[in-house]
Amino acid sequence: RPRFSNILIKINEEAADFYHRVLVSTNAGKRGLEYAQSRDLNNEIINHFRIGYAPKQDNLLLTYLRGHNYQDEDLLNTGLFVQSQAGELFDRFRDRLMFPLCNEGDYVVGFSGRRLSTDKTEAKYINSPETKIFTKSKTLFHFAEAKKAARSEKHLILYEGYMDVIAAYKAGIKSGIASMGTSLTDQQIYMLRRITNNIIINYDGDDPGIHAEERAAKMFNQVGGFNLGIVVLPEKLDPDEYVKKYGIEKYQDEIKGALTPTDFFLKRLAQKYNLANDREKLAYLDEATKEIAQLSNPVEQDLYLNKVAKEQSVSIDSLKVNLTKYRRQQN
Ligand code: UTP
Ligand code: MN
Ligand code: MN
Ligand code: MN
Ligand code: MN
Repeated sequence: RPRFSNILIKINEEAADFYHRVLVSTNAGKRGLEYAQSRDLNNEIINHFRIGYAPKQDNLLLTYLRGHNYQDEDLLNTGLFVQSQAGELFDRFRDRLMFPLCNEGDYVVGFSGRRLSTDKTEAKYINSPETKIFTKSKTLFHFAEAKKAARSEKHLILYEGYMDVIAAYKAGIKSGIASMGTSLTDQQIYMLRRITNNIIINYDGDDPGIHAEERAAKMFNQVGGFNLGIVVLPEKLDPDEYVKKYGIEKYQDEIKGALTPTDFFLKRLAQKYNLANDREKLAYLDEATKEIAQLSNPVEQDLYLNKVAKEQSVSIDSLKVNLTKYRRQQN
């Protein structure tokens, strides 16, 4: 067992062990375990991701940690407790499946807890607040492990959620990380850049997910130097749901079939127009050419011009005239 120089990390580590033990070996954890099983989380996965359960009863964690002689001031600074007006401490997380969030060294710095019920008036996930050791915008779920896997898998795959990273892991993909929602940050992009240039974005296949992929692709592009693949899953499915519905092999095919950013943008663009209408078709061709004009590699430009020309039954020469116009405007 390592010794921790930082008391807040030490307490978070103790809390992770506590929640995990509650889940796997107590009566109070049965509810959590049933939920975990309903989400196809087997023992191996529960152990690997150190998944836990924050019990329903008040203050079991508080009592446990006080019993181990931690001081209230330190406990409060971990964000694991909330303080009443009167100054009393209470467990922040109750009746939730607990996902430890780790720093780059793989030590627990915070948690995200999923509600078990389908009661939509309650937040689906609640997270530790920002503390001295936890900043959500600088954290990526599963980063410490994924960066090791990136060496052999040669890429990192970016997901929205914990359950998606876990589904990928079950499919043999260990290089999954999650931005923990769709609000990817520049700091997270810089973390990824230190590991690899090859990034596959696989957010949820619903509208917010696809919009967020577009936003993310632009952000990666701004930072520059990335080789991006973008996966758009069908039927609004997220990766976890996709694996459950179609299985591991089909999911791996989806990853192999990741779109280039240009393909992704052109596909999205085409959906915004009624291409049966000539006026709209011309507007689409204009926008598509503009997009292709941004590419710096002439071979790439040719590739996509050809594609669009074929798809829309126009000559590539006419598109090239437009392209030259847009290229000139850029300079
Ligand atoms: P989703 O709404 O797609 O949830 O949010 P999910 O990951 O599919 O979760 P399950 O399968 O229903 O359990 C994607 C991610 O956004 C963050 C979480 O990190 C979540 O995994 N999120 C979502 C929050 O932080 N809070 C929320 O209330 C919802
Ligand atoms: Mn989502
Ligand atoms: Mn939309
Ligand atoms: Mn989802
Ligand atoms: Mn999901």
